[in-house]
Amino acid sequence: MTFYQGAELAEVYDEALDEGFGLIASNIAEPNIMMGLMKGAERADSDLLIQMSNGACTFAGNGDAIDGLQAMGNYIELIADQYDIGVFLNMDHQTDPDIIQRQIDLDIPSSIMIDASHESFEQNVEQSRRVVEMTESTDSEILVEAELGKIKGVEDEIVSEEAFYTDPEQAVEFVDRTGCDLLAISVGTQHGVAKGRNLEIRPDLAGDIRTALRDHGLDTPLVLHGASGLQPDQLQKMLQNGICKVNKDTRYQYEYTRTAYDLYRDNDEAIVPSESTDDDRETFFNNVEWSPNKDYFDPRVVGRDIRERIADVYEDLANVAGSAGRSQLD
Ligand code: 13P
Ligand code: ZN
Repeated sequence: MTFYQGAELAEVYDEALDEGFGLIASNIAEPNIMMGLMKGAERADSDLLIQMSNGACTFAGNGDAIDGLQAMGNYIELIADQYDIGVFLNMDHQTDPDIIQRQIDLDIPSSIMIDASHESFEQNVEQSRRVVEMTESTDSEILVEAELGKIKGVEDEIVSEEAFYTDPEQAVEFVDRTGCDLLAISVGTQHGVAKGRNLEIRPDLAGDIRTALRDHGLDTPLVLHGASGLQPDQLQKMLQNGICKVNKDTRYQYEYTRTAYDLYRDNDEAIVPSESTDDDRETFFNNVEWSPNKDYFDPRVVGRDIRERIADVYEDLANVAGSAGRSQLD
């Protein structure tokens, strides 16, 4: 059984804080990226933190977020069993208390992120505190991540037009009053493709937040959202300043599509007829001069390429983040 819950995840974060490494929290919405991540994590000998947003669960559940969570939760659990690493599942950017309650009742996630960062400070404290209380009133151990500050860009169903950097003193009050286990901070990253945007990345601010928390006896792991736009050296600076969960989504989305694009572009004559042939799909499989080639159009062919590419990307990221070679669980 390698699909673990909050207690074991807390141990990994403790170790990450002590040793100065980070876990790449990797978003999925379907099984190919999930399987690529597991393969990459095993190769890197890194524990693996998968995450799903509400939109991803809804997609996986054919319109029903809870069905999606159960389906993917089962899928993750079964496949994780094939590997000698610890696998965790975080619910990313949650906003609806009813859905959060159902996630807790199902006891599938290792951690839940409540994102009330778009609310006023007081509302954010109240809503985040409430989720901490919800998890505390069950037997299951589920960690809670809350966010203070605003991260610009679009992440799934969450859109933020503006960025607000997190204030260190406010962060202390926020963690103190909410009791959250992890704190997501805004230090200049943005969700989505960041190129061409005016990023002012502030690892120094992450360090100030970490110091302010420590000065108040709070050893809270910090979370960096919108990390796809960061270069490896920028990421490492963040890790040196108390970040130990690094969220990546856009990178995998691009790798998925780019891998499929490359395969089909390089073998386009196996997929689409030349201009001289009628593009009539009903006739393609019988009694025609040209037929598509199953060696390329079988979805498993592109699926295998995607899994392999995601495995390579994750392995590299785990090396950069320092979680490679440190799996504590199997
Ligand atoms: P990116 O899409 O920029 O990688 O951000 C991921 C994220 O923050 C998920 O919560
Ligand atoms: Zn995010």
